[in-house]
This record gives sequence, C-alpha cells and structure tokens, in this order.
Amino acid sequence: MKKTLLFAVMATGLVLMSGAKEKKAIYKDPSASVSERVEDLLSRMTLEEKVGQMNQFVGIEHIKANSAVLTEGDLFNNTAQAFYPGITGDTVIRWTREGLVGSFLHVLTIEEANMLQRHAMSSRLAIPILFGIDAIHGNANAPDNTVYPTNIGLASSFDPEMAYKIARQTAAEMRAMNLHWTFNPNVDVVRDPRWGRVGETFGEDPYLISVLGAESVKGYQGTLDTPNDVLACIKHFVGGGFPANGTNGSPTDVSERTLREVLLPPFEAGVEAGAGSLMTSHNEVNGIPAHSNEWLMRDVLRGEWGFKGFVVSDWMDIEHIYDLHRTAENLKEAFYQSIMAGMDMHMHGIYWNELVCELVREGRIPESRIDESVRRILDVKFRLGIFENPYADEARTMEVRLSPGHRATALEAARNSIVLLKNDGVLPLDASKYKRVMVTGINADDENILGDWSASQRPENVTTILEGLREVAPDTHFEFVDQGWNPQTMSPAQVEKAAEHARHADLNIVVAGEYMMRHRWALRTGGEDTDRSDIDLVGLQNELIEKVAASGKPTILILVNGRQLGVEWAAENLPAIVEAWEPGMYGGQAVAEILYGTVNPSAKLPVTIPRSVGQIQMYYNHKPSLYFHPYAAGKSSSPLWPFGFGLSYTTYEYSDLRLSSDEIAADGTLDVTVRVKNTGSRDGVEIIQLYIRDLYSSVTRPVKELKDFGRVALKAGETKDITFTITPDKLQFLDKDLRPVVEPGEFVVMVGPSSEDSRLLKRSFNVK
Ligand code: BGC
Repeated sequence: MKKTLLFAVMATGLVLMSGAKEKKAIYKDPSASVSERVEDLLSRMTLEEKVGQMNQFVGIEHIKANSAVLTEGDLFNNTAQAFYPGITGDTVIRWTREGLVGSFLHVLTIEEANMLQRHAMSSRLAIPILFGIDAIHGNANAPDNTVYPTNIGLASSFDPEMAYKIARQTAAEMRAMNLHWTFNPNVDVVRDPRWGRVGETFGEDPYLISVLGAESVKGYQGTLDTPNDVLACIKHFVGGGFPANGTNGSPTDVSERTLREVLLPPFEAGVEAGAGSLMTSHNEVNGIPAHSNEWLMRDVLRGEWGFKGFVVSDWMDIEHIYDLHRTAENLKEAFYQSIMAGMDMHMHGIYWNELVCELVREGRIPESRIDESVRRILDVKFRLGIFENPYADEARTMEVRLSPGHRATALEAARNSIVLLKNDGVLPLDASKYKRVMVTGINADDENILGDWSASQRPENVTTILEGLREVAPDTHFEFVDQGWNPQTMSPAQVEKAAEHARHADLNIVVAGEYMMRHRWALRTGGEDTDRSDIDLVGLQNELIEKVAASGKPTILILVNGRQLGVEWAAENLPAIVEAWEPGMYGGQAVAEILYGTVNPSAKLPVTIPRSVGQIQMYYNHKPSLYFHPYAAGKSSSPLWPFGFGLSYTTYEYSDLRLSSDEIAADGTLDVTVRVKNTGSRDGVEIIQLYIRDLYSSVTRPVKELKDFGRVALKAGETKDITFTITPDKLQFLDKDLRPVVEPGEFVVMVGPSSEDSRLLKRSFNVK
C-alpha cells in the first residue's frame, strides 16, 4: 500500500518536472474552454477508459431486482429489464471506480445516483457519470416526481409552450435527483395503432411532431450549462412508428421520399433545436438495421444536418445486428459495424469494452474514430457542469420535485389534453339531475392513469377518476363497482353486477381502455412492447359497456389509453365519450372537471382514430388515390374520428377566410386571416388548424397537410381575427430527384377546426 502511494507521488513529481505547464490538468479548470478541457482529458485517457466512456450499464438496484426474477432466456427480447449473467453489481461498481463506465440508465433514486457518482469520482481521472433515464412525461419512471400527461395527450393540446414548460420542469426534477439526460422527446411519426408505443409519441403529423419535439428539446436543454438543464435525446431514428405488422421493432420498409417527407423532418427539427443526443431505432430500415445504418447516421444526420451531439444505441440493439438481423456474424462484428456507421454510445452491457478495445488494437477501428465519440460525450459532460457539480443534494431534493408549481402544470396540462369525442348534450353533467351515479371499469379507480413510462407513485400524489369525481361533485352519490385493474381477467360476475347497479343509477360512467403500468410488465395491454393484432377494447370491456348501456340510463365512456381504440359500438350508441389518454397524476381531477363543466374541453386529436384494424394504415395526410377504390365491404375513408377533431361545450364559427394576395413568388410569403367567433355561452380555447394542398404537381402530393395551428382563447360571444403566414417551406416538397422545390401553380389553403374536409374554409392562390 505504502509502496503504491510512493510511486504515485513520484509519478506526479515527474510529470510536474518534465513540462510543467502543458501537463497541468487543464480539464479540471472550469475557466478553460470546453474544447480545451475535452482535448486535455482525452490526451490523458487510456484506450480502455475511452471505450468505457462509450458504454452504459443499468443501475445496481435494477441489476439486483432483475437478477432475482428474470432468467437468462428472458433477456433476449426484454427491452426494459436486465441483469448481467455472471456479473454482480459489485463488479459494475468496481469498473466504475476504474473509470470504465461512461453512463448509467435506470437509476431511480438520488441515493444510488450519488453513490455511483462517488465511485466514478474516485477513478483515476475522476470523470463523472452521465445518468440517463426515460423521463418521457416528467421524471415519472422514478418515484416521487411530477407526472404530466404522456406525449399523446400533450400533442392533443397543440401547445408548444406547454411542451417547453413541462420539459423545463422535468429537467429541474431530474437534476434534483442527479440525473442528466432524458431519452425524450420521442419524435416518431405513428401510422399504426397496433403499435403499443403511440402514447409516448406526438401522433401522426410530421409538422405537429416537429414543433412539439423542438420545444421539448429547448425546454430540457435550456443553455445546457446551468444546474437546471438536462440533455435531450431525439428518438428513435428512424421508422419505429411504421412497423411492418404493428409490432415493436419489426422491419420498416419505406421509400426515401416517405422517409424524407414524413419520418425525418421531426428529427431534423430536433437537430435544429440543438438536441445533444439521438437514439437509433430497434428496426431495420429498408434492409439495413438502423444501428448499422451509415447512410442515416453519417450521411443524413451529420452530413446533411450537421448534428453535433452523440448517437446512443437503443436497448441491446447493437447486439441484435448479430443475434436478430444477422448482418454481422458475431458480436464483435456487430460492434464494429455500428461504430463505423456512426454509433457513439452503447446501451448497454458487459462485452463492449473488451471487444471494442480488441477491434482498435487489431487496427480495424482507428483510435481516432473512438476519439471522435469520446469527444462528443465529454463535451456534454463538461457543458452540463457535472465535473464541477457531480452530486445532487439529498436533503433538498424534494424542494424541487413535486413542487406546487410543477403540480399545477401537471393539472393544467391534463385539463388541456383530454379530448371530448362525442356529446349528445348529456355533458356537462348536471349534478342536481344525476344524484346517483354508478362508476365502473378497469381505469375508474386505478393509478394506471399515470400511463406508460411511469413507476407507481404514492397514492396521495395520484387523483384517480373516482376520487376526482368525488372531489368535484361532493353532493353526488358515486357507487363504484370494481372491475379490477386487469382487462384480461375481468370477471363476468362483476360485469353482471355493474349491469344490475346501472339500472338503479341516474347515470353511469364506464372508465375503460388499456393497462400500461410498467411494474406489471407482462400483464399490460398498452405501452412499449404491448403491440396488438386489433385495436378493440380488451377482455370483457365491450360487454361491460353494452350491458351497462342496456340499463337505459345515460352511459358515458371515458377512455384511458395510449393507442387509438376502435370503439365503434360506443361511438354509435353512447351519448358521450371522452378520450383521456394517459393524463398523469391529476388525470382524475381533470376528467371530473371536464365531465362537470368546470373546465371546458379544448383538446383535439393528434392522430386519426380508425374504426377497426382493417382500416390501418389510416392517416389524414394521405395521397389522393388511397380511397379511389373503396373497400367493397366495410367503411373506407371515414375514420371513427378524424385527425384534429375535438369538441367543446361552446361552439365556434369560422368565417371570412382571406389571403393577403392571390399570387406569390416561389420565395414569397402570404398572410392568411380567418375570423373565429365563439358563438356559444361559455368561454373556451379553440385550436385553429391550417392545411395546404398543392393541387397539381410533378409528383403526387397529400390531399392536405397541416402547416400551422394556433390555440386561441375566446370568451363567450368574442370574435378574433387570426393571421397565419405561409412561407416557402410550407409549400415545398421533393421533386422527382428528391430535390426540394416550390412548383408554380395553384395551392389551396384550408382553415378550420379539424382535418375533416367539410369543416374547412378554403381559398386558392397561385405560385408564379
Ligand atoms: C426503448 C427506448 C428507451 C430504452 C431505455 C428501449 O427499449 O426503445 O425508447 O429509451 O429502452 O429505457
């Protein structure tokens, strides 16, 4: 022990004597520039330390919990839980002390984050860990944080400012736990509701996704150099929302045109907003696994867009280049392919360090290529200030998390995210008329309203729908008939009981949908890795709705789910339907306020809701020929509800659509003004949508595309003129050679309350 110490002192002495100045640890000096610090640190690192910076591990508690319940076989296609066969948490801690770990994910407590960080800070060069977590809607995956609605609900509010605000608050809560990097925003474009992950996306429209994704990036990152900033990660690059058969990670086969016009724009917008990291997708894209896709990572991302951040792999997907896609014959080859295609960080595992070092020593991967990735990773660690502030304060963490301001935002966001899909006039509920109300359904009194990507939260931090109803209408007698939380094991006897009680109630509320909570991973019906071969309600839920409705008493359906559900019978037969999505911790209060009219609903659908699985793919911005030959049996072009649709308790009248000119140059701009009047008796917020169609063009163009929108508050009786500006980028498309062009000719601009054609006001203009 003494000998080692002496050697260390002598070694330091030697360094100081020979070339004192340049060997001074510049990287430890916060007044030096980030690039100087990066270069200095890089020059001191061994190959093993560099390759270690490119590697990630799951947290120690995660390893412990999962080694107890998973088998080695389970690891192959489980994308949420892991352990390392033959390797204990202690070994991972030792590697951390040896400076061989760059990042952890799935660390869920501040104590564990600080503990692991102390080990990293005791390593030779004291390079701090970058902690990553899926903070998709608040830092909800860790207990005791604010849980906002999931992205699909946020998208339903069409509210970029709210996206920014939630991201900003989430960043503060993350840093209060010593977490630095969120794997969000998910900017996947969704075209298949069988895919379980719809709820964590912003829906089907590239423009809406781009705007909300960019605002989220800005909100998370701020300037990326204050103690309240975190690194954002745009994901999944690319095409996961276009799965061949609806299942997560199945092949994506799309033309370069569709990639460039539909799937890539939200990523480009994220890069423009400054996203510091990007995650590649599980799937192969046109025959090349995304994780070894050089065209995507190098040519498009870095070459065309100038992305400066780092690329992280998704969960075990570099491994899957070998063991699933089989474009590499072994793991080492898979690592090689991925790194050479542009990968910077590996999520996650134990073979990376050894095999990648071997590849460098064998001369297959130049060390300069490794340096490139390490530079990008260190750059972020310096910018975030975690060399100077590696820990978070355990005594003060709860001053930030779940603060009153954050809770208020969660409630406001929930109110603005809930879509009223149908109302024959029964809503808002009249408490003096409906004194006895029966409430039933799997989501009536369950924390499942928190949604996917959420841990269980303390009951006092979650308002279930039943609790919300009791708070909002204290004089009403709510009778609860429990159906359990699991739609797959509903009891026929309980369904009968609800049907019986329905007859004695004045009104019935059925709260149906999906089950998404992650702690019951294998029992869920919605969320990541819960793809489905249909989009109907699971289990006895339809039977429950029909039997309750057969009571003859008004029956209202509330849906809690991430993906679109084809509730066709309910749409035809029930007087009111509310889509609550995954509304977060105050979802129950927000639903109740909307039912009783203390809040006037304003949200609109960011996806098309098909009637049945047979209509998939169904999306509003389709090509003209999609329904040229309609289905011989079954409905073709009419969805259950169209993109952009959502009702309110007031009514709006659109009129007087006018253009500042009826002709513009290809590089010119045009103002579009519309008059919107609140013609009802309640104040409200209307989401006004502007669509454009290029009438005749050299390549086929969609029948309409969202190009702008606005949330406008209108008091009862109030009228406002709203002006949008059409800029050349809104008219542009890719010509036959995939070059951006604005073609001369006639364009139609459409403005109205939804994408439904009959509701839109239209005017034409010419591009010269
Ligand atoms: C998901 C990613 C997520 C990662 C870490 C993967 O299975 O696809 O979206 O960020 O796990 O949790």
